[in-house]
Amino acid sequence: MSLYRLHINGQIRQVEAAPDTPLLWVLRDSLDLAGTKYGCGVGACGACTVHLNGVPTRSCMTPVATVGLKKVLTIEGLDAQASHPLQQAWVELDVPQCGYCQAGQIMTAAALLKENPKPSDADIDGAMSGNLCRCATYLRIRAGIHRAAEISAQAAAVAVKAPVSRKAKPQAKEGV
Ligand code: FES
Ligand code: FES
Repeated sequence: MSLYRLHINGQIRQVEAAPDTPLLWVLRDSLDLAGTKYGCGVGACGACTVHLNGVPTRSCMTPVATVGLKKVLTIEGLDAQASHPLQQAWVELDVPQCGYCQAGQIMTAAALLKENPKPSDADIDGAMSGNLCRCATYLRIRAGIHRAAEISAQAAAVAVKAPVSRKAKPQAKEGV
């Protein structure tokens, strides 16, 4: 067993583990971050997807000894209020069925939207092709990603307009 310092969801965490322990088990068993799921254990399903320095990564295939202080982001850290545009869209469109694969789906989709804020169907299908869903929610996942892109664009437009509207607010005249 060795001691590792890991950067998880913005915090430095210490864990003791054998060097070849997959990051997935460190997250789930040592750090109680059970949102990341075990599906196949061989890198084939995407259920265990987390971000390592922003890159979607199979945590079942990532030995803890190789992680170092790369920034690990799990579904729990995606948004403090669990209201990332993808999470909002997922609720709005009722995307999950059993839900098992969905944390991995959302993490892969989050990386896609960061790279490509307005993906086409083909972009989505390409980026998401490694994330399997036994309930076959693929069409809702695709719709959810489009909806999340809209939510993000609307939020960005509001953020740009906000200072302008404050400036435009009429000043009260002296003595009125
Ligand atoms: S559990 Fe990691 S890819 Fe399936
Ligand atoms: S929602 Fe059931 S496996 Fe994807």
